[in-house]
Amino acid sequence: MQFIIKLVLPTLGILAIIQPSLAATCTISKYNEDDINSAVKDCSDITLNGISVPAGVTLNLNLNPGTKLTFQGKIIWEFYEWNGPLLNITGTNVEITGAEGHTLDGQGTLWWDGQGEHGGKIKPVFFILHGLRNSIIHDINVKNTPYHAIWIEDSDGVVASNVYIDNGDGDSKGGHNTDGFNVWRSNDVTLEGISVYNQDDCIALKSGTNIVVRDTYCSGGHGLSIGSVGGRDYNIVENVLVSGSQIVNSDNGVRIKTVYEATGSVSNVTYKDITLKNINKFGIVIEGDYNINTGGTTGVATGGVPIKHFTLENVTGTVKKSGVNIYILVKNASDWHWQGINVTGGEKTKKCDGIPEGSGITC
Ligand SMILES: *[C@@H]1O[C@H](CO)[C@@H](O)[C@H](O)[C@H]1NC(C)=O
Ligand SMILES: *[C@@H]1O[C@H](CO)[C@@H](O)[C@H](O)[C@H]1NC(C)=O
Ligand SMILES: *[C@@H]1O[C@H](CO)[C@@H](O)[C@H](O)[C@H]1NC(C)=O
Ligand SMILES: *[C@@H]1O[C@H](CO)[C@@H](O)[C@H](O)[C@H]1NC(C)=O
Ligand SMILES: *[C@@H]1O[C@H](CO)[C@@H](O)[C@H](O)[C@H]1NC(C)=O
Repeated sequence: MQFIIKLVLPTLGILAIIQPSLAATCTISKYNEDDINSAVKDCSDITLNGISVPAGVTLNLNLNPGTKLTFQGKIIWEFYEWNGPLLNITGTNVEITGAEGHTLDGQGTLWWDGQGEHGGKIKPVFFILHGLRNSIIHDINVKNTPYHAIWIEDSDGVVASNVYIDNGDGDSKGGHNTDGFNVWRSNDVTLEGISVYNQDDCIALKSGTNIVVRDTYCSGGHGLSIGSVGGRDYNIVENVLVSGSQIVNSDNGVRIKTVYEATGSVSNVTYKDITLKNINKFGIVIEGDYNINTGGTTGVATGGVPIKHFTLENVTGTVKKSGVNIYILVKNASDWHWQGINVTGGEKTKKCDGIPEGSGITC
């Protein structure tokens, strides 16, 4: 039997009499849309075990409040050129986790062609946490995503912890734009104990408020980023604390990008206790000249997305000789406080334009 429902009768307490509920544990071991839909409808404890999701299909899990979802074994998605997502989870007060040894395997090598979103095969977004409220996701292993790994979007009150995203194979097999986490239009989000091996932003905060990122390990990608901010449907990033994180063998360490000639704001942002190691391009890069259309920069900053109340504290480490320690090109910035910054090894500073007075930055 591939679809097992185990009914657990609730204890007859006062609550159970007032609001009778059926707690059911369901395990799905073979992909079948109807089975999955009935499990989502009827079960409060769902395990997806070793399923293979057909080509071009989103595994859509719109969970009932209070559901616990566990991934077990190896879950794979078959190859198809489309935008995805391959996995989309919605819910309130839900818990999403993985059993020991599980993998969510995007089989990215089937799509990777070195071009990411800029051509070649059409690559699906892997995993969207959409409209998640007061929920947790923890102990999840993700491997080889075709394109971006995880988006948290339109969500409120999410704690993601111990999520391991391994797109390391992409280094030699053409992985590109394999962002770890992207956060969009979401509030009260905590990301802790996230490890990412990839070829683009480790974590990119695109819009949202009250976001905490700590104990992150980023390897091979483009660093811990805010942005790009501007030119989208929501363009505010506010109250962000990034702390206790390590960024190694990556193109950038700390990065904030705001969009040229766009409007919005980045405010009350703190990065502290960040260690960099062997950074290729920029140890710290803060720039207001991002061109959202080309993914490049214009070389001229505009001030429509001002960076305000920006604290950088205890950011230390090394950049490659061919890289640049600090690059700043902004306009209309205010109230910056930098201290304990010691990034060495590369060219000292390439640009240092638009820094508000009294910031404590020595360029
Ligand atoms: C994800 O699931 C939610 C809830 O079912 C739905 O509203 C949303 O459209 C889905 N997103 C995608 C991209 O399928
Ligand atoms: C600034 O952001 C931090 C989180 O990093 C938050 O604790 C603090 O309350 C915010 N300050 C203001 C004035 O909103
Ligand atoms: C600076 O940050 C590192 C972690 O990156 C931490 O080990 C160290 O204690 C911090 N130093 C201070 C003075 O807070
Ligand atoms: C600077 O930012 C403010 C908002 O804080 C905005 O009103 C103003 O237009 C910006 N100035 C420039 C030159 O972009
Ligand atoms: C900055 O770091 C380098 C090594 O990365 C170290 O040699 C130097 O003493 C540090 N400077 C300060 C002021 O801590």
